[in-house]
Amino acid sequence: RAAPSTFGAPVSPQGVDAPLRRSAVFLVLVMNDGDEAARTVREVLADLDGLVRTVGFRDLANPVSCTVGIGSRVWTELTGRKQPAELHPFREIAGAAHTAVSTPGDLLFHIWSDRQDLCFELERLLLAALGSAVTTADEVSGFRYFDTRDLLGFVDGTANPVGPDLPASTLVGDEDPELAGGSYVVVQKYLHPLAAWQALTTEQQERIIGRTKADGVELDDAVEGQKSHKTLATITDEDGEHDILRDNMPFGRPGHGEFGTYFIGYSRHLWVIERMLERMFVGDPPGLHDRILDFSTPQTGTTFFVPPTTVLAALDAG
Ligand code: HEM
Repeated sequence: RAAPSTFGAPVSPQGVDAPLRRSAVFLVLVMNDGDEAARTVREVLADLDGLVRTVGFRDLANPVSCTVGIGSRVWTELTGRKQPAELHPFREIAGAAHTAVSTPGDLLFHIWSDRQDLCFELERLLLAALGSAVTTADEVSGFRYFDTRDLLGFVDGTANPVGPDLPASTLVGDEDPELAGGSYVVVQKYLHPLAAWQALTTEQQERIIGRTKADGVELDDAVEGQKSHKTLATITDEDGEHDILRDNMPFGRPGHGEFGTYFIGYSRHLWVIERMLERMFVGDPPGLHDRILDFSTPQTGTTFFVPPTTVLAALDAG
């Protein structure tokens, strides 16, 4: 597929395409009511870049980054602009066996660095600046696990787009010119009953994921019947395959029996992620859902739009 035709022209994406790092914080906030709260949020978002530099400058060898997503409920109030073409709240998907729940969230901060303390520091300063303008809906600290594995033990992220495919898959183009360079982002916090997963044989696990466990090599797609996670999450139409960028991170508290995957997907088109979720939760054919869901239960589900930096910087003027 062609890159957005605005690519090369002055679009100014946030660091959606930055290399994946070892630590991340996923912070989902609800904006409190009132003009004062909206004003504070606008000011903080307009100066987000300054805050990132304040923390990042303290260790020049280890960059820290933050992308911010804005939910549809507060988009117009915060930006004064029309809604991004596809933006709407996360739509619950109720399959026969499993449900993709929809949970509140107006702002997403995805903070990442190779140093966890830098993530922590940026989150701390951010929340101090936002003060009583927001209420925390969810907060997860994720870590890179060995060779980019999830807690199910599989290498996760292999099929992510690279090179020119990355902006083409993640950045809005001419289809929504005012917001070109932005991205849709969907997050879901999953918990795994790890003992049940570990009771499966490696071959059973590999058939569920669609790749080998040790090496991450792709298995053939099933022609009929039960499809693997890899196959159900592959979206193809007359324009070819539609990729998204995933930066899933493990998180957990073994002492509390908590083992999780924080799913985060960036996409040029929201419908692509929604189609993936539909195929996973409803199944293809319907009824044959993604078996990864028998071992992964979503606790949250929220959708945001990641505006280009020009939109963020202009917020202060409002
Ligand atoms: C592939 C794990 C949820 C979309 C994979 C792979 C693993 C994995 C191990 C194979 C390696 C790779 O290509 O990255 C997980 C886990 C999840 C989860 C542990 C949650 C518990 C999701 C969700 C979506 C998704 C919710 C989309 C809405 C994809 C896509 C691929 C993929 C697009 C690549 C398919 C291809 O080969 O083209 N996932 N995943 N995953 N997953 Fe997931």
